[in-house]
Amino acid sequence: MIKVEHLSKTLGGQKVLNDISFEVATGEILIFLGPSGIGKTVLLKHLIGLFQPDQGTVIVNGTDITKLSQSQQLKIRKDFGYLFQEGALYDFMNVFENVAFPLREHTSLNYQQIRQRVREVLDMVDLDEVEAKMPSELSGGMKKRVGLARAIVLGAKVLLCDEPTSGLDPIRSRDISDLIRQVAKKIGATTVIMSHDVHNSFRIADRLAILNDGAIEVVGRPQDLLSCDHSFVKEFLKPAAV
Ligand SMILES: Nc1ncnc2c1ncn2[C@@H]1O[C@H](COP(=O)(O)OP(=O)(O)OP(=O)(O)O)[C@@H](O)[C@H]1O
Ligand SMILES: [Mg+2]
Repeated sequence: MIKVEHLSKTLGGQKVLNDISFEVATGEILIFLGPSGIGKTVLLKHLIGLFQPDQGTVIVNGTDITKLSQSQQLKIRKDFGYLFQEGALYDFMNVFENVAFPLREHTSLNYQQIRQRVREVLDMVDLDEVEAKMPSELSGGMKKRVGLARAIVLGAKVLLCDEPTSGLDPIRSRDISDLIRQVAKKIGATTVIMSHDVHNSFRIADRLAILNDGAIEVVGRPQDLLSCDHSFVKEFLKPAAV
């Protein structure tokens, strides 16, 4: 479970996050929707300790991650899967090495066990015969899948995804969205996704939160948001209503 309370953060003189509070239940998928530059990535990075809040707490599975030392933070990171906005695969490693990397860092599995686990997760994201390919040889959609495989390879009690559909065509966007939901539910991950893809967010979220001007405008189940009367929310959600 994730519990964020009264989180505020100023960056470059601008209050990016202003007294944000929310909860995500264990195994739930919460998607934050909001326009570009509103603070989605900054908020997501707070959930894994890559940013420290000016004020507020971030409690993940009972631990306040804002109070941990660096070595304690590194320890709990293995419970987190993070799908970066830009994919963030290592260009100089092939797909196998990219996905195996967290296993080499955080476990003492032998080569055979690593091979097996990498196969398992690549299979989960429907990738076949790509292990020897370099990231530059993959399409955008395949890179996202490899990024997802790497994010879940350690089991990921918490799965954090930043703009998983950005740069993809509508069909690939739908496919990766459905895949994230399927994988997250299969492994029981508590999941937070940042997106401005209204259509696919409505497809796969258990709950949605709309972020604007550093605050959560509204949070609720997809069907509840559609009937919401807030003018910004209505404007933002227009694509979902058609
Ligand atoms: N390290 C940083 N130092 C200073 N300002 C930053 C830093 N990171 C982000 N910001 C600022 O915080 C604001 C929010 O950025 P953020 O990347 O979270 O937006 P976003 O909602 O993820 O946008 P997008 O949808 O384009 O990814 C922006 O104004 C950005 O310039
Ligand atoms: Mg972002």
